[in-house]
Amino acid sequence: MTKQPPSAAKSKSLAGRIAIPGDKSISHRALILGALAVGETVISGLLQSDDVLATAEALRALGISIREDKAGDMHVLGRGTGGLCQPDTELDFGNSGTGARLMMGVIAAHPLTARLTGDASLTSRPMKRVLEPLSHFGARVEGGRGKLPLTLTGAALAVPVSYELRVPSAQVKSAVLLAGLNTRGRTCVIEPVATRDHTERMLELFGADIRIEKRPEGGLKICVRGEAELQPQHIVVPGDPSSAAFPAVAALITPGSDIIIQNVMMNPARSGLYTTLAEMGGQIDFLNPRRQSGEVVVDMRVRASALKGVYVPGERAPSMIDEYPALAIAAACAAGPTRMEGLGELRVKESDRLRAIHDGLALCGVDCIAGDDVLTVTGQKTIPGGVRVQTRLDHRIAMAFLVLGLVSENPVSVDDAATIMTSFPGFLPLMQKLGARISP
Ligand code: S3P
Repeated sequence: MTKQPPSAAKSKSLAGRIAIPGDKSISHRALILGALAVGETVISGLLQSDDVLATAEALRALGISIREDKAGDMHVLGRGTGGLCQPDTELDFGNSGTGARLMMGVIAAHPLTARLTGDASLTSRPMKRVLEPLSHFGARVEGGRGKLPLTLTGAALAVPVSYELRVPSAQVKSAVLLAGLNTRGRTCVIEPVATRDHTERMLELFGADIRIEKRPEGGLKICVRGEAELQPQHIVVPGDPSSAAFPAVAALITPGSDIIIQNVMMNPARSGLYTTLAEMGGQIDFLNPRRQSGEVVVDMRVRASALKGVYVPGERAPSMIDEYPALAIAAACAAGPTRMEGLGELRVKESDRLRAIHDGLALCGVDCIAGDDVLTVTGQKTIPGGVRVQTRLDHRIAMAFLVLGLVSENPVSVDDAATIMTSFPGFLPLMQKLGARISP
């Protein structure tokens, strides 16, 4: 018997309280810095999704012991910067651009050779953006023509580097800083446009000598001293605002909803979606702000709201780069058009997201126009639905269209829900707990 694809149907008001699982970006970084510290790092609330587990597996192949205790905490036995060993298996990062690119940075400054690969989505994504700066440290690449699979040989004596980012990418910035940890000197990254700063915050927590300066001409200069002796930590991973985006948008658009989403990280470099939803008239209250492992965490109360279309400037894109699929769903239910600019990077995410969003919305009967790096979605009172959307190995496309199904006249299904495991394993049961009619 073939399994029915997951499908979402028109739902009554959502209600209740859910806790969002750990942040994906922080989870990758906690494992990696734990491996580069000397001694045992304990991670509570690690996101146990396919992407993060692939990074853990790669670190194990490089000689790091990582084990889970009975309470679910992860124990990473770090071997110090420069302490990773030659792997005897291929490192498979599955769907994860973050895992692959950050680990390339680590490997670039270790005297070892590793073959890196990934799934059909990851092997089609650009890697030159990270391989080029890593070559300045002395790392060498064979094969791949700028894509995975490829073989990376790290430098035995990596030299410190100064590098100005050509794309606004936290992954590239982080790869360069991680490589810099195992050099004899200071490595600096110039970031003309701010991107998420979890690597910097966590490096500081682990005791690295990291300095961040504002440049008079704009942007930031971030420098880290090499031969770093990182101190092991107890990291408590805050909930992922990119995952919270889906139940939050679901509650905003489903009439009568009133939900609480607990434990959501609020970092200014990640909160562009929430700024935009507030401009659209979304009723979101940020409750009980507190600090957790160098980040601010809140509980969010989200109530159904009459949304209106807005203009979303390109400068905001880095702070909400993963949230456009969720925003497009909110825009489809708002009064009037929402124009989103500066979306060039969406073309090289887990899928060509600009196209996936456009095609999915058009299939569902929503009026939208896509340009090279622009998307305009015009909201409407009734959304026909009654279709199956192609997810193109993209977890966020799958979740976004299941949310749209909750307010469509006819059910919306997706061709593949397995991909949701890459970032949000509990998505379906948590949405069902809130009252969403999603059948797995
Ligand atoms: C991430 C950075 C972003 C984001 C990705 C996670 C990270 O990518 O899209 O999901 O953890 O550094 P870019 O930095 O390439 O834009």
